[in-house]
Amino acid sequence: MSDTFDIGLGNNFPEIREKADSDFISFWEQQAKNLHWFSPWERVLNWNPPFARWFEGGTINASYNALDVHQEQKSQKTAIFWEGENGDSKVLTYAELFESVKKLANVLVSLGVKKGDRVTIYLPMIPELPISMLACARIGATHTVIFSGFSATSIKDRVVDSHSKVIITADGGYRRGKVVPLKEIIDESISELDFIEHVLVVKRTNSEIQMNSVDSYYDELMEKSSAQHLAVSLESTHPLFILYTSGTTGKPKGVLHGTGGYLTHLYSTYKWAFDIKDSDVYFCTADIGWVTGHSYVVYAPLLHGATQVMYEGAPDFPDASRIWNILQKYHVSIFYTTPTALRMFMKFGDDIPNSFDLSKIRLLGSVGEPINPEVWRWYYRTIGKEKCPIIDTWWQTETGGMLISALPGIETIPLKPGSGTKPIPGIQMSVVDENGNDVKRGTKGYLIIRNQWPGMLQTLWGDDEKYKTVYWSKYENCYYPGDYALEDEDGYFWLLGRADDVLKVAGHRIGTAELESCIVSHTDVAESAVCGIADDVKGEVIISFVVLKQNTTKDTKSLESEIIQKIREDIGAIATPKEIHFVSKLPKTRSGKIMRRLLKAIASNEKIGDISTLEDGTAISEIQTAFDELQKSIKENSN
Ligand code: WT7
Repeated sequence: MSDTFDIGLGNNFPEIREKADSDFISFWEQQAKNLHWFSPWERVLNWNPPFARWFEGGTINASYNALDVHQEQKSQKTAIFWEGENGDSKVLTYAELFESVKKLANVLVSLGVKKGDRVTIYLPMIPELPISMLACARIGATHTVIFSGFSATSIKDRVVDSHSKVIITADGGYRRGKVVPLKEIIDESISELDFIEHVLVVKRTNSEIQMNSVDSYYDELMEKSSAQHLAVSLESTHPLFILYTSGTTGKPKGVLHGTGGYLTHLYSTYKWAFDIKDSDVYFCTADIGWVTGHSYVVYAPLLHGATQVMYEGAPDFPDASRIWNILQKYHVSIFYTTPTALRMFMKFGDDIPNSFDLSKIRLLGSVGEPINPEVWRWYYRTIGKEKCPIIDTWWQTETGGMLISALPGIETIPLKPGSGTKPIPGIQMSVVDENGNDVKRGTKGYLIIRNQWPGMLQTLWGDDEKYKTVYWSKYENCYYPGDYALEDEDGYFWLLGRADDVLKVAGHRIGTAELESCIVSHTDVAESAVCGIADDVKGEVIISFVVLKQNTTKDTKSLESEIIQKIREDIGAIATPKEIHFVSKLPKTRSGKIMRRLLKAIASNEKIGDISTLEDGTAISEIQTAFDELQKSIKENSN
């Protein structure tokens, strides 16, 4: 299928897979013993389909496992080298991080935050973000972090859904040299909410902001706060966090993760995949506002007492050398980033990374979307100098941690550019057809997971029914992630993109339904459909088709900017379409379904002849007519 690369780190622990294959439940039980538990579990897995309760009866605390456990041996070790976008920097030891987290835990308690309460966190990539998450975890409050690129309306939806009474934000955040007015956005988002009791404001940009009756400055409360705090003992299944993510229908859903199982999954995968050593300097470029940041910036590295770099800003700001500069400055040995970032770096040319000392790097990782084989090879050659394994890690917000990845920490297997290799130990995966039958090796189908794993989501916040239908109804007793995949002759998995109406733009999930309903809420719009087309940097970009109401008199130029403005306000800039086509009608099947493949074909400039099976049950002549009509309509409207 492709060339292979035999490169590993010399580790070889076949017994790990053997144990996992023979009994995944007792295997994970063994793994859980790597963590600190206040009291042991009574039952490893209580599986009440489709609800899993891992390590039931055991008590634990995530913040204790991230901080308290390191104080004896590693208190002076660097936990975080923080690099601000504007050149500021800070070094936080495990002792310093511990002290700040305990103080903030006391602050939250003094504000009335109790075990089980939700706290919304809307912060840029500054140390106060992990500190806030760990302070919540310490007292048993469930954190819900919102990516700092989301709009006021998105925040409002999430704050209402999670019913957070306390919000932690900053006066502003730096992004490409500009200040994002985070506090102003929070003020707008909560202006109609009467249940908000406190907003804590971290000073980052020293912007002029308005302080309201519910607001207090983070620093002022921290100064007065005691650094004595005992982590609360929590049930293993206690909700650690809610993270909202886009799906195929409606508004983003709150993915709920528990504590003991989630931490077990992260502890193990971090060790297996990254082969983490005390001497490593790890750098993951993900924003903590997404799941990669929750799992592999905050929790996994801290559970291991690792040293990491945390960077506040855009990877190409102020110029294309920024990232390599950071890698050189901090002697980074493990680097974990996205295909979108790699495609951008690759475009900038080899001279830039070649002019930095990247000799400390020993392991590279990729996450979030399929990586093109030629980008993989570039990463391997130019960044890894042909001596570092690359792990291509497949997982989801819902899975909590990696489920497919090469695992240089435990075994050396040949790597194939573009394949994540094999499932991690303890995971039973298959590729099946529409009816749930295994497809032949080498055939594209739907990825499914047949058993449970400790990092799996507990449910969707407040919506058990939706949890059942979204993930567990397509195939009986199997988890359906919504991805196409193929398993090759060697048992390697190739992830082939989303099989549902979810787009992946620069690695971020965008639900087509959410975007369409936002566009349709514009007063002049009658109907809308969006699709993704291939893009050589972002992987996928959004193209939208809009049918206007008949009596609309506005010109399409101003409508286009109004619609874009609306999307930015309702969702955020990440959902902005690259093109908007105004058309007189949308191509539909006889049963009224929008022919999405046809839209995609037109937007990608494919010829109708290139498309064999477009929409099930629709005659080719009908598709041809729809295709011609749509193209004509696009032409007419763009004149
Ligand atoms: C979706 C999940 C992985 C955490 C960050 C994204 C796609 C993710 C890969 C990969 C091919 C990938 C899938 C998946 N995806 N990693 N290595 N190769 N596709 O989490 O936002 O929940 O998105 O990202 O389509 O379902 P997410």
